[in-house]
Amino acid sequence: MNQPDIKKGLAGVVVDMTAISKVNPETNSLLYRGYPVQELAATQPFEAVAYLLWNGELPTEEQLVELRATERANRALTDDVRAAIDLTPTDAHPMDEVRTAVSVLGARDLAGSGSVLDASGSAEDNLERSIRLFAALPSIVAYGQRRRRGEDLIEPRDDLDYSANFLWMTFGEEPDPVVVDAFNRSMILYAEHSFNASTFTARVITSTLSDLYSAVVGAIGALKGPLHGGANEAVLHIFDEIGSADNVVAWLDDALANKRKIMGFGHRVYKRGDSRVPTMKKALDSLVEHYDRPDVAKLYDALEGEFVERKGIYPNLDYPSGPAYNLIGFDTVTFTPLFVAARVTGWTAHIIEQQGANALIRPLSEYDGPAERHIDGYVPDEAEVEAIARAEEAVS
Ligand code: COA
Repeated sequence: MNQPDIKKGLAGVVVDMTAISKVNPETNSLLYRGYPVQELAATQPFEAVAYLLWNGELPTEEQLVELRATERANRALTDDVRAAIDLTPTDAHPMDEVRTAVSVLGARDLAGSGSVLDASGSAEDNLERSIRLFAALPSIVAYGQRRRRGEDLIEPRDDLDYSANFLWMTFGEEPDPVVVDAFNRSMILYAEHSFNASTFTARVITSTLSDLYSAVVGAIGALKGPLHGGANEAVLHIFDEIGSADNVVAWLDDALANKRKIMGFGHRVYKRGDSRVPTMKKALDSLVEHYDRPDVAKLYDALEGEFVERKGIYPNLDYPSGPAYNLIGFDTVTFTPLFVAARVTGWTAHIIEQQGANALIRPLSEYDGPAERHIDGYVPDEAEVEAIARAEEAVS
Protein backbone atom coordinates (compact mmCIF):
# COMPACT_ATOMS: atom_id res chain seq x y z
CA MET A 1 0.00 0.00 0.00
CA ASN A 2 1.19 3.54 -0.81
CA GLN A 3 2.33 5.49 2.25
CA PRO A 4 0.78 8.98 2.18
CA ASP A 5 3.23 11.89 2.24
CA ILE A 6 2.88 12.95 5.89
CA LYS A 7 3.90 16.53 6.65
CA LYS A 8 4.69 16.11 10.31
CA GLY A 9 3.97 19.35 12.19
CA LEU A 10 2.41 20.65 8.92
CA ALA A 11 5.92 21.88 8.08
CA GLY A 12 5.99 23.48 4.64
CA VAL A 13 2.23 23.08 4.12
CA VAL A 14 0.35 26.11 2.77
CA VAL A 15 -3.19 25.79 4.09
CA ASP A 16 -4.88 29.07 3.11
CA MET A 17 -4.47 32.64 1.86
CA THR A 18 -4.08 35.60 4.21
CA ALA A 19 -3.91 39.34 3.57
CA ILE A 20 -2.82 40.14 7.14
CA SER A 21 0.91 39.48 7.14
CA LYS A 22 3.62 38.09 4.93
CA VAL A 23 6.58 36.18 6.26
CA ASN A 24 9.38 35.93 3.74
CA PRO A 25 12.01 33.45 4.87
CA GLU A 26 14.23 34.27 1.88
CA THR A 27 14.72 37.88 2.96
CA ASN A 28 13.85 37.36 6.63
CA SER A 29 11.22 40.03 6.24
CA LEU A 30 7.85 40.39 7.90
CA LEU A 31 5.14 42.66 6.50
CA TYR A 32 1.91 43.62 8.24
CA ARG A 33 -0.64 44.48 5.53
CA GLY A 34 2.34 45.32 3.30
CA TYR A 35 4.35 47.44 5.76
CA PRO A 36 7.72 46.14 7.04
CA VAL A 37 7.28 45.53 10.76
CA GLN A 38 10.45 47.42 11.67
CA GLU A 39 9.06 50.59 10.01
CA LEU A 40 5.83 50.25 11.97
CA ALA A 41 7.70 49.64 15.23
CA ALA A 42 9.85 52.73 14.73
CA THR A 43 7.04 55.12 13.83
CA GLN A 44 3.63 53.99 15.12
CA PRO A 45 1.80 53.65 18.41
CA PHE A 46 0.56 50.11 19.04
CA GLU A 47 -3.08 51.24 18.71
CA ALA A 48 -2.42 52.30 15.09
CA VAL A 49 -0.87 48.92 14.28
CA ALA A 50 -3.84 47.13 15.84
CA TYR A 51 -6.10 49.24 13.62
CA LEU A 52 -3.97 48.32 10.59
CA LEU A 53 -4.17 44.60 11.33
CA TRP A 54 -7.94 44.70 11.73
CA ASN A 55 -8.81 47.11 8.93
CA GLY A 56 -6.06 46.75 6.36
CA GLU A 57 -4.94 50.42 6.43
CA LEU A 58 -3.27 52.64 8.99
CA PRO A 59 -5.83 54.92 10.69
CA THR A 60 -6.33 58.56 9.86
CA GLU A 61 -5.90 60.96 12.78
CA GLU A 62 -9.64 60.85 13.33
CA GLN A 63 -9.88 57.05 13.20
CA LEU A 64 -7.03 56.77 15.68
CA VAL A 65 -8.78 59.18 18.06
CA GLU A 66 -11.93 57.08 17.81
CA LEU A 67 -10.13 53.77 18.42
CA ARG A 68 -8.28 55.27 21.38
CA ALA A 69 -11.54 56.51 22.88
CA THR A 70 -13.11 53.04 22.62
CA GLU A 71 -9.94 51.42 23.96
CA ARG A 72 -9.87 53.77 26.97
CA ALA A 73 -13.54 53.18 27.69
CA ASN A 74 -12.99 49.41 27.89
CA ARG A 75 -9.77 49.28 29.91
CA ALA A 76 -11.02 48.89 33.46
CA LEU A 77 -11.38 45.40 34.95
CA THR A 78 -15.03 44.51 35.46
CA ASP A 79 -16.04 42.94 38.77
CA ASP A 80 -16.66 39.48 37.30
CA VAL A 81 -13.27 39.33 35.57
CA ARG A 82 -11.54 40.59 38.68
CA ALA A 83 -13.34 37.97 40.79
CA ALA A 84 -12.30 35.23 38.34
CA ILE A 85 -8.67 36.36 38.54
CA ASP A 86 -8.87 36.43 42.33
CA LEU A 87 -10.14 32.85 42.30
CA THR A 88 -7.06 31.52 40.49
CA PRO A 89 -4.25 30.56 42.88
CA THR A 90 -1.45 33.16 43.04
CA ASP A 91 1.02 30.38 42.28
CA ALA A 92 -0.87 29.31 39.14
CA HIS A 93 0.95 30.29 35.96
CA PRO A 94 -0.35 33.71 34.85
CA MET A 95 -1.16 32.25 31.44
CA ASP A 96 -3.80 30.15 33.25
CA GLU A 97 -5.05 33.33 34.89
CA VAL A 98 -5.22 35.22 31.59
CA ARG A 99 -6.94 32.28 29.87
CA THR A 100 -9.54 32.17 32.66
CA ALA A 101 -10.10 35.94 32.60
CA VAL A 102 -10.67 35.95 28.82
CA SER A 103 -13.07 33.05 29.19
CA VAL A 104 -15.13 34.93 31.79
CA LEU A 105 -15.06 38.13 29.74
CA GLY A 106 -16.33 36.16 26.75
CA ALA A 107 -19.09 34.43 28.71
CA ARG A 108 -20.33 37.83 29.90
CA ASP A 109 -20.07 39.42 26.50
CA LEU A 110 -21.94 36.59 24.79
CA ALA A 111 -24.53 36.09 27.54
CA GLY A 112 -28.02 35.84 26.05
CA SER A 113 -26.64 35.46 22.53
CA GLY A 114 -28.73 32.37 21.83
CA SER A 115 -27.76 28.94 20.54
CA VAL A 116 -24.33 27.86 19.31
CA LEU A 117 -25.65 28.49 15.82
CA ASP A 118 -25.43 32.23 16.54
CA ALA A 119 -22.04 32.12 18.26
CA SER A 120 -19.76 33.29 15.47
CA GLY A 121 -21.35 36.76 15.07
CA SER A 122 -20.85 39.20 12.21
CA ALA A 123 -17.52 40.77 11.20
CA GLU A 124 -18.70 44.03 12.84
CA ASP A 125 -19.56 42.20 16.08
CA ASN A 126 -16.16 40.55 16.06
CA LEU A 127 -14.29 43.78 15.43
CA GLU A 128 -16.01 45.32 18.45
CA ARG A 129 -15.22 42.23 20.54
CA SER A 130 -11.60 42.41 19.38
CA ILE A 131 -11.25 46.01 20.53
CA ARG A 132 -12.80 45.17 23.90
CA LEU A 133 -10.35 42.31 24.41
CA PHE A 134 -7.41 44.43 23.26
CA ALA A 135 -8.46 47.10 25.78
CA ALA A 136 -9.03 44.71 28.69
CA LEU A 137 -5.92 42.56 28.43
CA PRO A 138 -3.44 45.11 29.86
CA SER A 139 -5.57 45.42 33.02
CA ILE A 140 -5.71 41.62 33.32
CA VAL A 141 -1.96 41.19 32.87
CA ALA A 142 -0.99 44.16 35.05
CA TYR A 143 -3.34 43.19 37.86
CA GLY A 144 -2.01 39.61 37.70
CA GLN A 145 1.56 40.72 38.32
CA ARG A 146 0.52 43.11 41.12
CA ARG A 147 -1.61 40.43 42.81
CA ARG A 148 1.27 37.97 42.80
CA ARG A 149 3.44 40.62 44.43
CA GLY A 150 0.78 41.34 47.05
CA GLU A 151 0.12 44.82 45.61
CA ASP A 152 -3.22 46.54 45.02
CA LEU A 153 -4.99 47.01 41.69
CA ILE A 154 -4.16 50.27 39.92
CA GLU A 155 -6.94 51.85 37.88
CA PRO A 156 -6.21 52.84 34.26
CA ARG A 157 -5.42 56.46 33.40
CA ASP A 158 -7.39 58.12 30.63
CA ASP A 159 -4.65 60.59 29.83
CA LEU A 160 -2.14 57.89 28.84
CA ASP A 161 -1.87 55.98 25.57
CA TYR A 162 -2.02 52.17 25.48
CA SER A 163 1.66 51.42 26.20
CA ALA A 164 2.17 54.11 28.85
CA ASN A 165 -1.07 53.12 30.58
CA PHE A 166 -0.08 49.43 30.54
CA LEU A 167 3.16 50.30 32.37
CA TRP A 168 1.30 52.66 34.73
CA MET A 169 -1.19 49.94 35.71
CA THR A 170 1.65 47.46 36.29
CA PHE A 171 4.07 49.62 38.24
CA GLY A 172 2.00 52.55 39.52
CA GLU A 173 4.55 55.09 38.28
CA GLU A 174 4.54 57.48 35.34
CA PRO A 175 6.82 55.59 32.92
CA ASP A 176 9.88 57.16 31.29
CA PRO A 177 9.45 57.81 27.53
CA VAL A 178 12.46 55.56 26.76
CA VAL A 179 10.73 52.67 28.50
CA VAL A 180 7.37 53.41 26.86
CA ASP A 181 9.04 53.45 23.44
CA ALA A 182 10.84 50.12 23.99
CA PHE A 183 7.66 48.51 25.31
CA ASN A 184 5.54 49.90 22.46
CA ARG A 185 8.02 48.46 19.93
CA SER A 186 7.88 45.05 21.57
CA MET A 187 4.07 45.03 21.39
CA ILE A 188 4.17 45.85 17.67
CA LEU A 189 6.81 43.21 16.95
CA TYR A 190 4.78 40.54 18.77
CA ALA A 191 1.44 41.53 17.24
CA GLU A 192 1.27 39.24 14.24
CA HIS A 193 3.12 36.41 12.53
CA SER A 194 0.92 34.63 9.97
CA PHE A 195 -0.05 30.99 10.61
CA ASN A 196 1.99 30.36 13.76
CA ALA A 197 0.70 27.67 16.16
CA SER A 198 -1.55 29.91 18.28
CA THR A 199 -3.00 31.82 15.32
CA PHE A 200 -3.65 28.57 13.52
CA THR A 201 -5.36 27.26 16.66
CA ALA A 202 -7.60 30.34 16.63
CA ARG A 203 -8.39 29.75 12.97
CA VAL A 204 -9.18 26.07 13.55
CA ILE A 205 -11.63 26.98 16.32
CA THR A 206 -13.16 29.75 14.23
CA SER A 207 -13.57 27.34 11.31
CA THR A 208 -16.09 25.34 13.35
CA LEU A 209 -18.22 28.54 13.61
CA SER A 210 -17.38 28.82 17.30
CA ASP A 211 -17.04 32.30 18.84
CA LEU A 212 -14.12 34.73 18.95
CA TYR A 213 -13.53 34.32 22.70
CA SER A 214 -13.30 30.53 22.42
CA ALA A 215 -10.80 30.97 19.61
CA VAL A 216 -8.69 33.38 21.69
CA VAL A 217 -8.82 31.11 24.76
CA GLY A 218 -7.56 28.22 22.59
CA ALA A 219 -4.84 30.44 21.14
CA ILE A 220 -3.70 31.38 24.66
CA GLY A 221 -3.35 27.68 25.44
CA ALA A 222 -1.20 27.16 22.34
CA LEU A 223 0.92 30.21 23.10
CA LYS A 224 1.74 28.97 26.60
CA GLY A 225 4.04 26.23 25.29
CA PRO A 226 7.81 26.86 25.50
CA LEU A 227 8.26 26.03 21.82
CA HIS A 228 6.04 29.03 21.06
CA GLY A 229 5.29 32.00 23.35
CA GLY A 230 6.72 30.46 26.48
CA ALA A 231 10.21 30.92 25.02
CA ASN A 232 10.60 34.57 26.14
CA GLU A 233 10.14 33.42 29.74
CA ALA A 234 12.51 30.51 29.17
CA VAL A 235 15.22 32.89 27.88
CA LEU A 236 15.27 34.67 31.24
CA HIS A 237 15.64 31.35 33.08
CA ILE A 238 18.66 30.66 30.89
CA PHE A 239 20.11 34.12 31.64
CA ASP A 240 19.59 33.50 35.36
CA GLU A 241 21.27 30.10 35.09
CA ILE A 242 24.30 31.48 33.25
CA GLY A 243 24.65 34.46 35.57
CA SER A 244 27.31 36.45 33.67
CA ALA A 245 29.10 36.62 30.33
CA ASP A 246 32.17 34.85 31.79
CA ASN A 247 30.16 31.67 32.33
CA VAL A 248 28.75 31.40 28.81
CA VAL A 249 31.30 28.99 27.30
CA ALA A 250 31.18 26.49 30.17
CA TRP A 251 27.38 26.71 30.39
CA LEU A 252 26.96 26.17 26.66
CA ASP A 253 29.41 23.21 26.63
CA ASP A 254 27.27 21.56 29.26
CA ALA A 255 23.90 22.48 27.70
CA LEU A 256 24.87 21.19 24.27
CA ALA A 257 26.43 18.01 25.71
CA ASN A 258 23.04 17.41 27.36
CA LYS A 259 21.24 18.12 24.06
CA ARG A 260 19.32 21.02 25.53
CA LYS A 261 17.41 23.39 23.28
CA ILE A 262 18.67 26.92 23.80
CA MET A 263 15.53 29.00 24.18
CA GLY A 264 15.29 32.16 22.12
CA PHE A 265 17.23 30.64 19.22
CA GLY A 266 15.93 29.00 16.06
CA HIS A 267 12.72 29.39 14.13
CA ARG A 268 10.46 27.13 12.10
CA VAL A 269 10.36 29.59 9.21
CA TYR A 270 13.35 31.94 9.51
CA LYS A 271 16.45 29.84 9.14
CA ARG A 272 18.91 32.71 8.72
CA GLY A 273 17.79 35.16 11.36
CA ASP A 274 14.55 36.78 12.48
CA SER A 275 13.88 40.24 10.99
CA ARG A 276 12.32 41.44 14.24
CA VAL A 277 15.49 40.89 16.27
CA PRO A 278 17.53 43.98 15.24
CA THR A 279 14.57 46.27 16.06
CA MET A 280 13.99 44.67 19.46
CA LYS A 281 17.76 44.58 20.14
CA LYS A 282 17.82 48.34 19.58
CA ALA A 283 15.00 48.70 22.12
CA LEU A 284 16.95 46.47 24.53
CA ASP A 285 20.07 48.62 24.04
CA SER A 286 18.08 51.74 24.94
CA LEU A 287 16.88 50.04 28.13
CA VAL A 288 20.41 48.84 28.98
CA GLU A 289 21.54 52.45 28.77
CA HIS A 290 18.51 53.83 30.62
CA TYR A 291 18.88 51.39 33.53
CA ASP A 292 22.71 51.39 33.31
CA ARG A 293 22.99 47.60 33.00
CA PRO A 294 25.90 46.85 30.62
CA ASP A 295 26.19 43.39 32.21
CA VAL A 296 22.92 42.40 30.50
CA ALA A 297 24.22 43.45 27.07
CA LYS A 298 27.49 41.59 27.69
CA LEU A 299 25.72 38.35 28.56
CA TYR A 300 23.35 38.77 25.59
CA ASP A 301 26.22 39.28 23.13
CA ALA A 302 28.36 36.51 24.60
CA LEU A 303 25.64 33.84 24.38
CA GLU A 304 24.53 34.92 20.92
CA GLY A 305 28.10 35.00 19.57
CA GLU A 306 29.02 31.62 20.99
CA PHE A 307 25.81 29.84 19.97
CA VAL A 308 25.68 31.23 16.45
CA GLU A 309 29.33 30.31 15.93
CA ARG A 310 28.84 26.76 17.14
CA LYS A 311 25.42 25.91 15.69
CA GLY A 312 24.67 28.50 12.99
CA ILE A 313 21.23 29.01 14.61
CA TYR A 314 20.16 32.64 15.06
CA PRO A 315 18.15 34.38 17.80
CA ASN A 316 14.41 34.87 17.46
CA LEU A 317 12.35 37.77 18.88
CA ASP A 318 12.13 36.16 22.32
CA TYR A 319 15.89 36.47 22.80
CA PRO A 320 16.00 40.31 23.07
CA SER A 321 12.48 40.72 24.43
CA GLY A 322 13.06 38.48 27.48
CA PRO A 323 15.86 40.62 28.97
CA ALA A 324 14.06 43.83 27.86
CA TYR A 325 10.94 42.91 29.86
CA ASN A 326 13.14 41.95 32.79
CA LEU A 327 14.85 45.37 32.79
CA ILE A 328 11.48 47.14 32.62
CA GLY A 329 10.53 45.28 35.80
CA PHE A 330 8.10 42.62 34.64
CA ASP A 331 8.30 39.32 36.52
CA THR A 332 9.56 36.50 34.32
CA VAL A 333 6.22 34.65 34.48
CA THR A 334 4.48 37.75 33.10
CA PHE A 335 6.41 37.71 29.80
CA THR A 336 4.12 35.31 27.94
CA PRO A 337 0.96 37.17 29.07
CA LEU A 338 2.55 40.31 27.57
CA PHE A 339 2.83 38.36 24.34
CA VAL A 340 -0.91 37.57 24.63
CA ALA A 341 -1.75 41.27 25.01
CA ALA A 342 0.18 41.97 21.80
CA ARG A 343 -0.81 38.94 19.73
CA VAL A 344 -4.52 39.26 20.48
CA THR A 345 -4.55 41.84 17.68
CA GLY A 346 -3.19 39.36 15.14
CA TRP A 347 -5.34 36.50 16.43
CA THR A 348 -8.54 38.51 16.17
CA ALA A 349 -7.63 39.84 12.71
CA HIS A 350 -7.19 36.20 11.61
CA ILE A 351 -10.44 35.15 13.27
CA ILE A 352 -12.30 37.81 11.27
CA GLU A 353 -10.47 36.84 8.08
CA GLN A 354 -11.16 33.11 8.59
CA GLN A 355 -14.80 33.84 9.23
CA GLY A 356 -15.02 35.87 6.02
CA ALA A 357 -13.92 32.95 3.79
CA ASN A 358 -14.49 29.95 5.96
CA ALA A 359 -13.76 26.27 5.34
CA LEU A 360 -13.83 23.80 8.22
CA ILE A 361 -10.20 22.89 9.01
CA ARG A 362 -10.09 19.13 9.28
CA PRO A 363 -6.96 17.33 8.03
CA LEU A 364 -6.56 13.57 7.66
CA SER A 365 -4.32 11.15 9.50
CA GLU A 366 -2.76 7.81 8.65
CA TYR A 367 -3.66 5.08 11.13
CA ASP A 368 -0.87 2.97 12.61
CA GLY A 369 -2.67 1.42 15.60
CA PRO A 370 -3.75 -2.21 16.04
CA ALA A 371 -5.43 -3.97 13.12
CA GLU A 372 -9.22 -4.34 13.33
CA ARG A 373 -10.29 -6.61 16.22
CA HIS A 374 -13.56 -7.37 18.00
CA ILE A 375 -15.05 -7.64 21.46
CA ASP A 376 -15.58 -11.35 22.30
CA GLY A 377 -19.21 -12.37 22.08
CA TYR A 378 -20.41 -9.13 20.46
CA VAL A 379 -23.07 -9.79 17.80
CA PRO A 380 -23.88 -6.85 15.49
CA ASP A 381 -27.57 -6.14 15.01
CA GLU A 382 -29.26 -6.12 11.63
CA ALA A 383 -28.90 -2.38 11.05
CA GLU A 384 -25.14 -2.50 11.72
CA VAL A 385 -24.70 -5.50 9.40
CA GLU A 386 -26.61 -3.64 6.69
CA ALA A 387 -24.57 -0.46 7.17
CA ILE A 388 -21.28 -2.38 6.92
CA ALA A 389 -22.50 -4.22 3.79
CA ARG A 390 -23.53 -0.90 2.23
CA ALA A 391 -20.13 0.63 2.96
CA GLU A 392 -18.29 -2.39 1.54
CA GLU A 393 -20.42 -2.24 -1.59
CA ALA A 394 -19.61 1.43 -2.05
CA VAL A 395 -15.86 0.76 -1.77
CA SER A 396 -15.81 -2.21 -4.19
N1 COA B 1 18.83 25.04 20.55
C1 COA B 1 19.54 23.94 20.20
N2 COA B 1 19.35 23.28 19.05
C2 COA B 1 18.41 23.75 18.23
C3 COA B 1 17.63 24.89 18.53
C4 COA B 1 17.88 25.53 19.74
N3 COA B 1 17.20 26.61 20.10
N4 COA B 1 16.78 25.13 17.53
C5 COA B 1 16.99 24.18 16.63
N5 COA B 1 17.97 23.35 17.05
C6 COA B 1 18.48 22.18 16.35
C7 COA B 1 17.59 20.98 16.61
O1 COA B 1 18.01 20.27 17.75
C8 COA B 1 17.74 20.19 15.35
O2 COA B 1 18.96 19.50 15.41
P1 COA B 1 19.11 18.02 14.82
O3 COA B 1 18.83 18.18 13.34
O4 COA B 1 20.49 17.66 15.17
O5 COA B 1 18.04 17.22 15.51
C9 COA B 1 17.88 21.26 14.27
O6 COA B 1 18.38 22.42 14.94
C10 COA B 1 16.54 21.60 13.60
O7 COA B 1 15.63 21.99 14.63
P2 COA B 1 14.10 21.70 14.67
O8 COA B 1 13.65 21.66 16.10
O9 COA B 1 13.79 20.52 13.81
O10 COA B 1 13.55 22.96 13.97
P3 COA B 1 12.07 23.37 13.96
O11 COA B 1 11.90 24.23 12.77
O12 COA B 1 11.15 22.23 14.11
O13 COA B 1 11.95 24.17 15.34
C11 COA B 1 11.90 25.74 16.99
C12 COA B 1 11.93 25.49 15.48
C13 COA B 1 11.56 27.20 17.25
C14 COA B 1 10.82 24.85 17.64
C15 COA B 1 13.26 25.39 17.58
O14 COA B 1 14.26 26.16 16.96
C16 COA B 1 13.31 25.58 19.08
O15 COA B 1 12.91 24.69 19.84
N6 COA B 1 13.82 26.77 19.57
C17 COA B 1 13.84 27.06 20.98
C18 COA B 1 12.48 27.57 21.44
C19 COA B 1 12.16 28.98 20.97
O16 COA B 1 12.98 29.88 21.06
N7 COA B 1 10.94 29.14 20.48
C20 COA B 1 10.43 30.43 20.02
C21 COA B 1 10.17 30.38 18.57
S1 COA B 1 9.73 31.99 17.95
